[in-house]
Amino acid sequence: MTKTLRTQVLIIGAGPAGLLLGQLLHKAGIDNLIVERQTGDYVLGRIRAGVLEQTTVELLDRAGVAARLHAEGLVHHGFELMFDGQRHHIDLSRLTGGKSVTVYGQTEVTRDLMAARAAAGEPTLYSATDVELFGFDGDQPGARCTVDGERIEIHCDYIAGCDGYHGVSRASVPAEAIRTHEKVYPFGWLGLLSDTPPVSHELIYGRHERGFTLCSMRSSTRSRYYLQVPLTEQAGDWSDERFWNELRSRLDPAAAAALVTGPSLEKSIAPLRSFVAEPMRFGRLFLAGDAAHIVPPTGAKGLNLAASDVHYLSQALIEHYRERSEAGIAHYSARCLSRIWKAERFSWWFTSLMHKLPNEPEIDAKLHRAELEYVVSSDAAMASMAENYVGLPW
Ligand code: APR
Ligand code: PHB
Repeated sequence: MTKTLRTQVLIIGAGPAGLLLGQLLHKAGIDNLIVERQTGDYVLGRIRAGVLEQTTVELLDRAGVAARLHAEGLVHHGFELMFDGQRHHIDLSRLTGGKSVTVYGQTEVTRDLMAARAAAGEPTLYSATDVELFGFDGDQPGARCTVDGERIEIHCDYIAGCDGYHGVSRASVPAEAIRTHEKVYPFGWLGLLSDTPPVSHELIYGRHERGFTLCSMRSSTRSRYYLQVPLTEQAGDWSDERFWNELRSRLDPAAAAALVTGPSLEKSIAPLRSFVAEPMRFGRLFLAGDAAHIVPPTGAKGLNLAASDVHYLSQALIEHYRERSEAGIAHYSARCLSRIWKAERFSWWFTSLMHKLPNEPEIDAKLHRAELEYVVSSDAAMASMAENYVGLPW
């Protein structure tokens, strides 16, 4: 026996992209159903970046899910660039006409979106296996899946593929209809989360002989630190003590002395990748978020790009249902990709500038150092970095 369901927009994936799209559509009176491979707890267990652009905050406001973000998020007007044992302040607000970013973990954004979805009573099928899309090249798209041993067939008007890099949506597109671009970096980030006060009230991005370091935070009592490590490293080989010693060795003397250490709550290694799939619409299937693109985490653009895709997609669908206009749908892919490629460029540039390649030739190290010196001594160069960091306009 197969159960049959019907919705207007079927969303694959309950990460931040899928949940935010669902919430914006719900507010516009468009019904939607989310199908998620994992459990809700599993989704909330993933630790991801935590810097929101102002436009992302505005979108979360419009979605009605920003109350806790405003109460608990930390507004940052700048960050610090560290190299040659010195920190240099990048005054984001001065350089961008008053813009800022908000430090608030992606896990918390996801938690707020899940709570809003539960309150709205919109359905989510968690722990869905064997998800299979059909018919998106015609006008009767849908998906089949299994939940608790029951086969379910869902019919819809449109499918939003918000199922991340490893999802089924992009993989369902015929190879000849899609083009992918990819760069894998020869190092990873070892991250540690701890209930310790952050070493500085601003984020520190550091280039060091021993590798890149990022000092970030989730709150005034919870820190998130990262170390560049070779891809051959295993998180299990890093005791907390080894992590803290390595971090301290890459900080300037004042930060090293101020660093408060404590037991880790989480430690994991993430690879770094640049990836774009083009186009982002295939008939009645749209890709959004990590399903279509990945940026290396330097600059924290991943979640913010997912938010801008969801903005364009929700607008396109609202125009379709309210005004019978297909313009937003027709332009969805081009609108997204124009912004995505600029964020890809910035993330690649910031990554290349701050990391030390294995066996890096001395000339490259000298060129990076010269560029860092240029960035911190030229208002024009600093303004370029700042306007990309706070987020380009939609
Ligand atoms: N069927 C249903 N759901 C799936 C499937 C599938 N076949 N494959 C994957 N999923 C789910 C995943 O379990 C996950 O919960 O899709 C969701 C995708 O969520 P994310 O990977 O968080 O991607 P996205 O919502 O686009 O968020 C982008 O997350 O990875 C970060 O850097 C990224 O911050 C950015 C943000
Ligand atoms: C994080 O806090 O996890 C974070 C912050 C800034 C980045 C990347 C990650 O650029």
